[in-house]
Amino acid sequence: MLSLGVLVSGTGTNLQAIQDAIVSGRLDAAIRLVISNKPGALALERAERAGLRTLCLSHRDYASREAFDQALVLALKDASVDWVVLAGFMRLLTRTMLQAFPGRVVNIHPSLLPAFPGVDAQEQALTYGVKVTGCTVHLVDEGTDTGPIVAQRAVPVLETDDAGALRARILTEEHALLVDVLRTISEDRLEVVRADGQRARVRTRPG
Ligand code: GRF
Repeated sequence: MLSLGVLVSGTGTNLQAIQDAIVSGRLDAAIRLVISNKPGALALERAERAGLRTLCLSHRDYASREAFDQALVLALKDASVDWVVLAGFMRLLTRTMLQAFPGRVVNIHPSLLPAFPGVDAQEQALTYGVKVTGCTVHLVDEGTDTGPIVAQRAVPVLETDDAGALRARILTEEHALLVDVLRTISEDRLEVVRADGQRARVRTRPG
């Protein structure tokens, strides 16, 4: 069984999707710990309602990014977490976290990377005028949404969309995509391929 730590900053709908998949038997995993860097985040409330172990670590209480990440590592290791999911976690991670969980941190991002990294990806897509956007799950490195792509789903942009409508349409796909990826991880089907001089790529072995 996959032991997950989930890091959140916001509303926690992706966290909820993971927990719902676990409870309904669609995902062989357990969420060992939910950490929010934002006191009062709705995601924390959801986690508590689901009976999950929670922790709030405000990054403002730490002198450096490394010190904050060290606190994350200690808490995640203490909870025996194997894989870490960034589910709307609005902080960049440092080597301190990434070396503690090498190749075992995934992020969900609301665009088809490498288009529209960073914050407000849905607004960026609308401003640019793309007709298709989507969501991406990728392994996390030290950059902003730059790590090897694990899986993506396309979502149409409609003429009538505002940011809220587009965000909602993408979120529905995020929930399904994230659970799908976590299932492939729980079945040990992800493989990182490193060819000389090229970007690391992720392959999903057939189930
Ligand atoms: C999602 O759109 C995710 O892709 C982005 O932040 C949002 C988090 O939503 N990184 P939620 O907190 O899971 O509801």
